[in-house]
This record gives sequence, C-alpha cells and structure tokens, in this order.
Amino acid sequence: MTRDYKAEEINRKHWDEIAPVHGKSYNTEVLINGGHLLDATQVKELGSISGKKILHLQCHIGTDTLSLARLGAEVTGIDISGESLKVAEELAEKTGLKARFIETPLFDLPGKLEETFDMVYTSIGVLCWVSDLKQWASIINRYLKPGGTLYLMESHPFMHVFDDEITGLNVRYPYFSGGKPIDWPGDWPDYSDENYTVKSPTREFSWTIGQIHNSLTDAGLKIEFIHEFDFLHWKGLESMEKCEDGFWRLPEPLNKIPILFSLKASKI
Ligand SMILES: C[S@@+](CC[C@H](N)C(=O)[O-])C[C@H]1O[C@@H](n2cnc3c(N)ncnc32)[C@H](O)[C@@H]1O
Repeated sequence: MTRDYKAEEINRKHWDEIAPVHGKSYNTEVLINGGHLLDATQVKELGSISGKKILHLQCHIGTDTLSLARLGAEVTGIDISGESLKVAEELAEKTGLKARFIETPLFDLPGKLEETFDMVYTSIGVLCWVSDLKQWASIINRYLKPGGTLYLMESHPFMHVFDDEITGLNVRYPYFSGGKPIDWPGDWPDYSDENYTVKSPTREFSWTIGQIHNSLTDAGLKIEFIHEFDFLHWKGLESMEKCEDGFWRLPEPLNKIPILFSLKASKI
C-alpha cells in the first residue's frame, strides 16, 4: 500500500464536479427544517454525542457533519473537494448550525490540524477513495484522545464483488484486490440524481473486512464491534429495490448477503 497521488487528483475533480449537483439532490430540506439525516442505526450505535468533539473525515457537502452538530456535537469536517466544502458552508449558513470545515487531502491533515477528538466519524462511500489503509488508520489513531472512538459505517466490501450492471448476483470483481484500484471512465448516472450524467472519471480502491479490521488494530485501536446489515442507502446493485423505510434491499432469495457494515473502535 502506498499513497496514490494521481488517484487523489482524479477523484478530487470528480467530487468537485458533482458537489453542486448533490447540493440540490441531497435531502437538505430536513436539515434546514431543524432535523438531521443520520439513520436510526447510526444514532443508536453512536450513543449520546452531545458536547463531544468530533472529527468527520471525507465530509462531502456537510450533511452528516451538520447532522452531528444538530445532535449537539462540536464538529470539524475535512474533505479534499473545495467545491463540496463550498456547498457545506452554504448549508451551515442556511441551517444556522456551527461546524468547521477544512479543505485537505486526508493524508495531509496532520500538517493542518493539531488537536485531538473524542470521536472520529466517517461514513458511506469513503473507503473506496482511500489508497493506503495503513495511513488511514494511523491518522484516525493520531486524532483520537485516549478513550476516544472511531465510528465507521460503509457499504460492505462483499457487495462490491457483484456485477452492478445486470440483475441477479454474478461475481465480476475480486474481493481480494490486493490494493489494485479500478479506473472507471465516468459517463454514468449520478447515485443521487440519476438525471445527471457524471462526466469525470474515478479511481477506486476496495478493501476487505479483514484489511479494514487489521489496519485499525495494527494502529493500536481496539475493535468494539462490527455489525453487518441487509440494507443500503442507495441502489448499489441493479436488483435492489427501494423499501418503505427508504433503504434499498435485495429481494428474496438474493437478500442473504451483507451489503452494509458498521464498526466502532476505541483508542486504548
Ligand atoms: C460519498 S462522499 C462522503 C460520504 C457522505 N456519506 C456523503 O454522501 O455525503 C465521499 C467524499 O470523500 C471525499 N474524498 C475522496 N478522496 C479524498 C481524499 N483523498 N481526502 C479527503 N477527502 C476525500 C470526496 O471529496 C467526497 O466528498
């Protein structure tokens, strides 16, 4: 594993392109009207965060950052995409919620932020942009106070072995990628606004549950839990159907695999 600077450049352009699209397609009205956008599982697993100092990695347009703030946390969100953070700042203004945003590649954060936090939070669509899991875990460890916790919710890597262009579950991609990224050409419908065709390419990584777990324990963290789920926040595979609760699930008999997981770890 080594840091992939080229991936950061490619992916930053991608996120800069779609940030304004997401500013319109994400359900920001909920935040503006006094609510938050964290799902019930996260709220339960996070526990009380009121008064806690939280570092949110890869915060995108700040919807989760501001949701954490609405639940009483003092939050700092960081992201590589300046356009995403512009939308985040505007949203903070509209909601009247306070949060600090820092534009930086994740791996450059140690040169830009000197504090420690009660919690590091990162969720949904984050690990595929991380080229070096060892550096990722060491940054999380760096920013946690002793006794502080990491909370991660992410699509399950097992889901990503399946062909996402056809119905059914046909294995297409390796679970064991060996850290080798996939270069996607762009020109596909955005996950949040299917009427928008994303132009810019991406370079994405996939990590196994074991690699994620071991990167954190190798960095000195203790895993408190890993939970696996049968629901997802977006249509990750062609066969998925939107359910009444707003989440996407695979229908019978395909629904026997994990498609989402959460992880809590603590700094000893
Ligand atoms: C799917 S979004 C974040 C997830 C969040 N749940 C959401 O939907 O708002 C992924 C974010 O990771 C950011 N990102 C990608 N590579 C990064 C890097 N190397 N350093 C920091 N942020 C990065 C992108 O700019 C993007 O805002």
